[in-house]
Amino acid sequence: MTQTVYTKRRALVAKALKAAGGGIALLPTAPEHARNRDSDFPYRHDSYFYYLTGFTEPGGWLAIDSTGKTTLFCRPKDLEREIWDGIRLGPKAAIAALGVDEAFSVDELDAKMPLLLRNQAAVWYPFATHTGLETQIDGWLGKVRARIRYGAECPQSQHDLCKVLDEMRLIKDAHEIAILRRAGAISAGAHIRAMQTSAAMLRTPAKGTAHVVPREYHLEAELLHEFRRNGSQFPAYTSIVAAGANACVLHYRAGDAELKSGDLCLIDAGCELDGYASDITRTFPANGKFTPAQRTLYDIVLSAQVAAIKVTKPGKRFTDPHDAATRVLAQGMLDVGLLDKKKHGGVEDVLASGAYRQFYMHRTGHWMGMDVHDCGDYTEPGSKPREERDPLGEMVMKKPPRILRAGMVLTIEPGIYVRPAKGVPKEFWNIGIRIEDDALVTAKGCELITRGVPVRADEIEALMRV
Ligand code: GLY
Ligand code: MN
Ligand code: MN
Repeated sequence: MTQTVYTKRRALVAKALKAAGGGIALLPTAPEHARNRDSDFPYRHDSYFYYLTGFTEPGGWLAIDSTGKTTLFCRPKDLEREIWDGIRLGPKAAIAALGVDEAFSVDELDAKMPLLLRNQAAVWYPFATHTGLETQIDGWLGKVRARIRYGAECPQSQHDLCKVLDEMRLIKDAHEIAILRRAGAISAGAHIRAMQTSAAMLRTPAKGTAHVVPREYHLEAELLHEFRRNGSQFPAYTSIVAAGANACVLHYRAGDAELKSGDLCLIDAGCELDGYASDITRTFPANGKFTPAQRTLYDIVLSAQVAAIKVTKPGKRFTDPHDAATRVLAQGMLDVGLLDKKKHGGVEDVLASGAYRQFYMHRTGHWMGMDVHDCGDYTEPGSKPREERDPLGEMVMKKPPRILRAGMVLTIEPGIYVRPAKGVPKEFWNIGIRIEDDALVTAKGCELITRGVPVRADEIEALMRV
């Protein structure tokens, strides 16, 4: 058996179990979800399961024990079902295809799991991720306990498998980085396509050509087209295409609002490729030319992103990019009068009071990987908690933020969102801007894997003139 990334990862899980006193890890893939009647939602495997198997069919289970033995359960071959739903790998072929030691039909799960659990020191499974999993495992443990009289030993403890897998997933390996780079490149191309479509639709139509009112969904269609034509299986999350004031709604979805000349459009969209996400936001003038007020705020957000990128490197803390970005945003808000200096004081006062949160109310990033908001501890494992003030001013015990290391992937996404309000200069009302790129932490700094789409205002204007 040649070693694959999956066999290597499974061996690491076995090693972690062994180091923690032994046991067996159980992991189901994701269930299928009915949409209505005979239609299902498109199937998406469980990320942990995929990480350890590369197997995308529904109905799968994986068991790994601390000796390194791996057992897979999958749907049995079934000619009748395969005519309707497509080919199934089946247990027999799974052994070679997935490099597992043994494989059974998922129909044998209830019969085999008690045998696998028997005489194991502990059982590991992902806590609070699969509805009903705990009950299912309880049932199998009950069957083991019923055999105690005959010499069977029941696992004495249960542990959260996520703890082990999250740490592994946080540092991306070469295989993952290659896919993430490609996902980022596809998404970047999709953003360019959407920007150019917006500008083209807002140009005066050629004589004899019908005028189509440009709407958010037209740009969403361009994104989806570009994702899919490059092999992406899904969007990594529901695309946000927000025209004008809609950009100030953080979780807006692409709707049917008109893209108006003179307004900005904010697109937050990324494809999922082979199980890996990308996450890009660009904000651009619908007609291709920023107004002076838009440009002023845009350049502040961009400077905030530049400051955050500078401190995205090994040895820095996860919160350092956020702190760097927030400082630039707060200073910018004071400089342009979004925050009144007389009322709010200087930048240190604004940072201390949190007054900037009126216009910047989210964090500057999150881990990214198989899941767009990927798993991984945001605090440094093994460190001592210390007393800190939380955003609401309460003192809480918190571990220090995670130290960045090469191989971590995080987004850098500062923004400014201006809702109409008393005391806020009218020229900025309803402007919402976010700029988001995906950063791979490297040995010396970070690599922005989504910069296939430019970010400087003049570069955006140039590509929209084409
Ligand atoms: N697209 C989700 C996010 O930016 O966090
Ligand atoms: Mn994001
Ligand atoms: Mn995003």
